[in-house]
Amino acid sequence: MKLIVDKLSKKFKLHLQNSREISAVTDVSFSLKKGEFLSIIGPSGSGKSTILKCIYRTYLPTDGEIKFFKEDSQILNLHNATEDEVIKLRRGEIGYISQFLKVLPRVATLDIVAKPLIDIGVKESEAKEEARELLLYLGIKRELHDISPLTFSGGEQQRVNIAKEIIAPKKLLLVDEPTASLDEERKKLVVQLFKKLKEQNITIISIFHELDLINKITDKFLKLDEEKYAD
Ligand SMILES: Nc1ncnc2c1ncn2[C@@H]1O[C@H](COP(=O)(O)OP(=O)(O)OP(=O)(O)O)[C@@H](O)[C@H]1O
Ligand SMILES: [Mg+2]
Repeated sequence: MKLIVDKLSKKFKLHLQNSREISAVTDVSFSLKKGEFLSIIGPSGSGKSTILKCIYRTYLPTDGEIKFFKEDSQILNLHNATEDEVIKLRRGEIGYISQFLKVLPRVATLDIVAKPLIDIGVKESEAKEEARELLLYLGIKRELHDISPLTFSGGEQQRVNIAKEIIAPKKLLLVDEPTASLDEERKKLVVQLFKKLKEQNITIISIFHELDLINKITDKFLKLDEEKYAD
């Protein structure tokens, strides 16, 4: 896996405001090798999340190239990949972790976290055991494992969200402030998990506000400036 982002730009047209354009991202370039950890830093509104969403193709880039070198060494340009190609890529190679847990109602936490392992062929009992361990590591009490996480606290939901995305990690993980509602100790636990993923050669692009915590595991920084508006 390898990723090359070359002069990526994203503009939004505001149709309700005389089609005024906002330049969310302008000419961003970087490249990443397998197992590298990139931290995007910059003030609120500088386009950090927009970059991740362009790579995940939630947003279609306006300009520039995003070349994703797949495990089978096929190269996909995410700027013009088809929807089918994007869906396949999301299934196996690119994962996205946001601040928010999105799950179906009435599914037990343990089942949610074990599912990605079961989906890749791990036996159900083993998958559940691994899920339980990960949840306990993240401080989610055993008595909560059998109920849906939808009534959990914000911080508990964030930890379930992280657990379900990293239990069977994709090759490239896009991580957007996943620890925003966690306390310092829990943030450290999560950063430890990302360190382990890096050791397993998972490539990570992250937006974290705690520079002191991620400094040690960051290979490259991408620093963005204040937002710029165009007419
Ligand atoms: N879907 C959208 N439609 C219109 N404008 C958008 C859209 N998404 C982002 N923007 C604009 O693009 C700019 C960058 O937003 P983005 O969310 O990438 O910032 P950010 O660096 O992640 O900020 P924060 O640290 O607050 O999360 C902002 O001015 C925002 O209003
Ligand atoms: Mg953001």
